[in-house]
Amino acid sequence: MNTLFLSAADPQTPAVAAQIIKNGGLVAIPTETVYGLGANGLDEAAVAKIFEAKGRPQDNPLILHLWGKEQMADYCREIPESAWRLAEKFWPGPLTLVLPARDNVPRRTTGGLSTVAVRCPDCAVTRAIIRLAGVPLAAPSANISGKPSTTTAQHVLHDHNGRIDAIVDGGPCRVGVESTIVDLTEDRPRLLRPGGVTPEQLLEVLGDLVVDKAVTAAIDRDAVVKAPGMKYRHYAPQCDVVIVAGSREKAADYIRRHFSAGDRVLCFEEELPLYEGCAPLAYGREAQVDTLSAGLFAALRILDDPAVGRVYARCPVGGGVAYAIQNRLKKAAAFHVVDAEEEL
Ligand code: TXA
Ligand code: MG
Repeated sequence: MNTLFLSAADPQTPAVAAQIIKNGGLVAIPTETVYGLGANGLDEAAVAKIFEAKGRPQDNPLILHLWGKEQMADYCREIPESAWRLAEKFWPGPLTLVLPARDNVPRRTTGGLSTVAVRCPDCAVTRAIIRLAGVPLAAPSANISGKPSTTTAQHVLHDHNGRIDAIVDGGPCRVGVESTIVDLTEDRPRLLRPGGVTPEQLLEVLGDLVVDKAVTAAIDRDAVVKAPGMKYRHYAPQCDVVIVAGSREKAADYIRRHFSAGDRVLCFEEELPLYEGCAPLAYGREAQVDTLSAGLFAALRILDDPAVGRVYARCPVGGGVAYAIQNRLKKAAAFHVVDAEEEL
């Protein structure tokens, strides 16, 4: 198969991509978070192709991408008032809501669940494609399952060239980590995955929020979890990743003492001078956390190289978007964190 490379700047692109979707094909789409691998979310055969292309476990449900909040009621039931308030405030944007699914949403899309995840991406070309296709787009992150997510069209090309119908190039993703997921199907709203919409922002609208344990701790593969995707090893380069916590100086001291040839250091730009000779790779500025989220997956992809021995990673502290970065890095590290303030 020849994969079409379409530019978001080309006025023909929405119509070309929408036609491929209507025909049951696969189109990689840009969003503000990460690139998605999109197909008609109401067409079981098209959705099956997504699972096959990604090598994704069948029980891992997909997010339906909508072009506007008006569409929410077409695919969700029993929508609480809080869902409308969140959509009003954060859509289009990096927030996914889990709600009871209507019967028109295939179980293949929901991974067999009776609920469905929906979001409205903040990306004009992608919303235009959805509107022209006239169907919601089921789209997981476009990476091969288990690998770091795709934040440029080149990442998608690397993973899927010749195996999907088209890629829409909208440039690098602004947020860089996947959307925040909130489950609204229980008594209390539950954070299933942190992202660009922060827990603080959610609390302001909801007044209450439970953080699911899958966000902060390793989950057993056989466990029953709210967001099935959270139990799989994720976002990870093929080598071991160790997060080194603590002050800049203590961490550098620890890493320099444990560093072996072939290892790499994933750090903040401000720390580069501390790691001369340790093959450092900066993923953004600590003082500007959004540069870290935007750069994280591209850096993890560079480190996904058989020549790399071990990665020592520095992680921002605190809430806001840093909370989402902590979640992704901890998952990449299989929750291996050492505290340089205590370790020798
Ligand atoms: O930012 C994003 O959300 C990106 C872009 C492409 O929109 N998409 C994305 O999709 O990250 P994916 O498939 O990589 O992650 C979706 C997550 C998975 O952890 C999945 O288990 C969870 O959402 N999920 C989907 N439907 C769900 C449901 N009905 N209940 C609970 N979790 C659900
Ligand atoms: Mg993913």
